[in-house]
Amino acid sequence: MQLIHSTREISEYLHGIRSTNQIIGFVPTMGALHKGHLALVNKAKEDNDFVVVSVFVNPTQFNNSSDFDNYPNQLELDITLLEQAGVDCVFLPNVDELYPYQSVLKFDFGYLEHVMEGEFRPGHFNGVATVVSKFFNIITPHKAYFGQKDIQQVAVIKMLVLGLSFQLDIVVVPTLREMCGLAMSSRNQRLTDEEKVKARAIYQALGRSRDEFLSGKSFVLVQQDGIRSLESQGFKVEYLELTKSSTLEKVTGLSTGEYAICLAAYLGDVRLIDNLLFIV
Ligand code: PAF
Repeated sequence: MQLIHSTREISEYLHGIRSTNQIIGFVPTMGALHKGHLALVNKAKEDNDFVVVSVFVNPTQFNNSSDFDNYPNQLELDITLLEQAGVDCVFLPNVDELYPYQSVLKFDFGYLEHVMEGEFRPGHFNGVATVVSKFFNIITPHKAYFGQKDIQQVAVIKMLVLGLSFQLDIVVVPTLREMCGLAMSSRNQRLTDEEKVKARAIYQALGRSRDEFLSGKSFVLVQQDGIRSLESQGFKVEYLELTKSSTLEKVTGLSTGEYAICLAAYLGDVRLIDNLLFIV
């Protein structure tokens, strides 16, 4: 497995790989890898001849400096996990390599900037789009892999790919969960044992909201009850929304199609997000 820090070096190296007609799959990560990341890697291994993973905690996507400072870091373990998973190349740029000057690039994803993650994490998608565009330009993969847990990030990246005509496919991989239903996330490492047990309530709330809604309760009531129930268990809920899964437009009533119930909540000082897809 090649470990490469420099943009120029990885670009030249992958140019060589492409010239042998190999199909390149790319998995961007911020490290602190868990089984959810490894599911992305495994899917990339199935679909491609050559798999590149980036490990880079991107400072421009953190709207909260303490979240950045506390972001888990376990680089040695990550490298071992990637090696065991059969990854071909890991890109480990440092901040100056990707941001030679303080980034001034501005993206606007319209509606997606103002709802859910866009509303509660101002500037977050600008940072994600900036770093992901850099990776797509440097690595020029044929396919890139993202997790369904970050459903709004997926919508933003799809818009970015169409908007800037990146020539690659986006592959979305279903959310991996702990036995109790908690969506796997690097931030789960920051939960205490007691909080990890409590955190299962997020997935339970999503399932209950879907079931109540499908059995005829208005979503406004479902939302109120869901938020009240989580808050009584010690969560601070930012949003619980019913959306069309393709556009993430909020809806309150149903016709046919695919929907996503999306939730973000703090447990202590750890922010957790999750979503549940269903078809009507
Ligand atoms: O989903 C993530 O881990 C990050 O947002 C990403 C896509 C690696 C960009 O920094």
